[in-house]
This record gives sequence, C-alpha cells and structure tokens, in this order.
Amino acid sequence: MKKIVFATNNAHKLEELRQIMAGKFEILSLNDINCHEDIPETANTIKGNAEMKARYVMRHYGYDCFSDDTGLEIDALDGAPGVHSARYGGVAHDSERNIDRVLREMKDVPMEQRTARFRTVIALIESEEDDCTEFPLRFEKIRFFDGRVEGVILTERHGEGGFGYDSIFQPVEGDGRTFAQMLPEEKNAISHRGRAVRKLVDYLQSM
Ligand code: IMP
Repeated sequence: MKKIVFATNNAHKLEELRQIMAGKFEILSLNDINCHEDIPETANTIKGNAEMKARYVMRHYGYDCFSDDTGLEIDALDGAPGVHSARYGGVAHDSERNIDRVLREMKDVPMEQRTARFRTVIALIESEEDDCTEFPLRFEKIRFFDGRVEGVILTERHGEGGFGYDSIFQPVEGDGRTFAQMLPEEKNAISHRGRAVRKLVDYLQSM
C-alpha cells in the first residue's frame, strides 16, 4: 500500500483520515517520521499555512506529504476566528478556551444570525523527476484541495465526541445534532475535512 505523510500529530485528525483512506493508503504521522518540532504556521490564510507545513516536511524530511489547515468562519464575528481558530482563546490548541471566547462574543447574537462554516484546505506536495532533460531534474509540485460545511453556532456545548469547536457547531445538512454528537463516519460524510480529503483521494487514485 502506498505510504504518504500527513503533516500532523493531532490524534483526532489522524483517526479521521485513516478511516477515510482505509485500505487505500497508509498514513504516516509526523511522529512516525521522527519530526517532533513545531512546524511554523505563520501565514495569514489557511491555504498559506497548509502550504507552509507541506513544504517544511518536504524540505527537512524529504517525504511526499499533505497537510491540512482549517478555519471556522463565523459571520457575526466578521469571519473570526478564521485563520486564528487554533488559538482564539489565547492558548494554542486549548479548545475549551476557544469555545468560551466564541460563546462570550456571541452571547447577544440571535439564532438566525449565528451562521458559520468550517473551511479546510489541503496542500499536497510531491517530488517529481523531469525525465525530458538529459540530466534529470527533481522539482516539487504542489496541489490544493478544499472542502467546506455550513452550519450554525449553538449557544452552549452539546456532545462529547469530536474535537475543537465540534460541540457548538450544528451542520445545516444534519438532523440537529452537533458534530460532537455524531459518529466519526457521520461527521466525515459531510465535514469540511471529509470533503477535502475525498478530493485528495480521488486525485491520488487517478495517478
Ligand atoms: P488546524 O490548524 O487545521 O489544526 O485547525 C485550527 C483549529 O480549528 C483547531 O485547533 C481546532 O480548534 C479547529 N478545528 C479544526 N478542525 C476541526 C473540526 O473538524 N472540528 C472542530 N474544530 C476543528
């Protein structure tokens, strides 16, 4: 089975991705390739951050790899937290604080104005050889795949599953449950990342 690096150590994301790609590709994490440092994510768009992470792994570890970046865009907060979704509450990857800040800032926003969406961009970087020249040249090719899901931000948490903002995000395509109340496969079927990953898988399988 073809191996591909997913530039993350987020156990939830790895599990989601391994489920979607089961039987098709073997996913290696950053731990699996002994990459333990924090990869810079200083771009001001989610696409820029996805590209930055994928290029870093290629440059420093030499693997073909894909990387994702996700932002939650809340209309009543002018698109925030957006590219700052991971550290909106002030501490990186502290989901409870992130949710607390969102709920605090939205406490007076009526239900019909609580629209939001998750957006994911996946950057795939591959090293290819140009065999048309007398002296083969290696070059990097980057491709992007995106996905999004529309929903509303509830006024309190519901559900124990998932991660990040899942417990306050109710997708419009669902049956009223939040992502945190769904089984992983139910979330993957309609989620931002599920959609982007399926585009990635279609591309990889067409190769
Ligand atoms: P990341 O940079 O792709 O890890 O995403 C930034 C932040 O968005 C994460 O720290 C999470 O708080 C949040 N996030 C990403 N994906 C999801 C998801 O599927 N559900 C809920 N929150 C998410």
